[in-house]
Amino acid sequence: MIIRPAKNILGALRLPGDKSISHRYAMLGALAEGATRLSNYSNGADCASTLQCLRQLGCTIRNGQEGGTIQIDGRERFSSPEASLDCGNSGSTMRMISGFLAAHNFSCDLHGDSSLSRRPMGRVITPLRLMGAQISAGIGDRPPLHIHGGKLAAIDYQSPVASAQVKSAVLFAGLLAEGETSVEEPYRTRDHSEQALRAFGVELTRRRNRVTLPGGQKLRAIDAVIPGDISSAAFFFCAAALFPDSNLVIENLLLNPTRAALLDVLKLLGARISVINLEEHHGELVGTVKIEYGLLTGVTIAGGQSVALIDELPVLAAIAPYTRDGIEIRDAKELRVKESDRIALVANNLRAMGAECEERESGLKVPGGQKLHGAEIDSGHDHRIAMAFAVAALRANGESKINGAEAAAISFPAFFEMLEGVVER
Ligand code: S3P
Repeated sequence: MIIRPAKNILGALRLPGDKSISHRYAMLGALAEGATRLSNYSNGADCASTLQCLRQLGCTIRNGQEGGTIQIDGRERFSSPEASLDCGNSGSTMRMISGFLAAHNFSCDLHGDSSLSRRPMGRVITPLRLMGAQISAGIGDRPPLHIHGGKLAAIDYQSPVASAQVKSAVLFAGLLAEGETSVEEPYRTRDHSEQALRAFGVELTRRRNRVTLPGGQKLRAIDAVIPGDISSAAFFFCAAALFPDSNLVIENLLLNPTRAALLDVLKLLGARISVINLEEHHGELVGTVKIEYGLLTGVTIAGGQSVALIDELPVLAAIAPYTRDGIEIRDAKELRVKESDRIALVANNLRAMGAECEERESGLKVPGGQKLHGAEIDSGHDHRIAMAFAVAALRANGESKINGAEAAAISFPAFFEMLEGVVER
């Protein structure tokens, strides 16, 4: 994909449904009483992997209903799959579905593509084994996974990593276990599983970073319109923040406070942002965001803020050279075990564009006030790297070539088309 420099970002957009919420509503719908209807379900390959796994587990899912709605017929339990579950590139699918499988009395295998096969699964294997499931994995607790589930005991689990996927796997297993399950995390992570469980009729309590849920509760089907993915919107917001005459509006956008930290950071940097038409749907805040240019200064992102911004850090780092004072990212070691080593790839690609930056074990320091030139970018087959550097390329001198741009389809198949639609040259 060739990206030419832009002058300006202008327009109004509605985005495909949030990836995190799509996974969760599909999985919960699959085990709910009644038929769950979801419109604006994410059209990314990751959420298709979740649907494919659910089908392999015996669920009936109808696509292509009116208005792009999918319908999932809930069932009480999954049935034993005939083949290994293919989770594709999706860590969310593998980790979260493992929570449910841990409570099913059959054996099954889960595998993924070469990227997913390198990602750590010990973080879900440990709590699920403590609850009573038998799980084995490849070297270093990497996929493939073999799970033989059964009757689970509730657990009170202190997660050593701040991961919403781990929290969700434990809560989903806890829902099917006997007794009261609690999970506590070192920093607050996205709370979509808590909101989704409530939307499907489950009672749970939250106190600070601890969630508790009594097992054995039934799920009730829902009808939902999935709000636009704020992690996809992040690329457009960051692009708009780079050009003095930009004016971009995104409607029907997910604005859950555990996901919207990017808006705070862009505001702090100097962008002008307003939010209108706030509504709540199934516990999730949804609204319209308008962003306009303001001189971007600098910021240090650390601790809980790095956790809250984990998927947006690549694009923030990619625009950092264009800020006045630069951006420093700390406490973000998790970036090294995402779809790629995002710290290394961001640093390499920034350097390819002529930028100076310091790569650290748990983050990056990118000085501001730099001029970048077009370059060949290596996406590392990572969707967020491909999209982050498409944004950086808009303000470079000369055109850039994004190798492996098709990776964007993991979360956002129409990204390049929609970007072209709002770019002025
Ligand atoms: C996600 C949680 C995050 C995030 C991922 C989606 C989720 O991963 O990076 O894109 O939907 O729960 P971790 O839980 O591994 O931090």
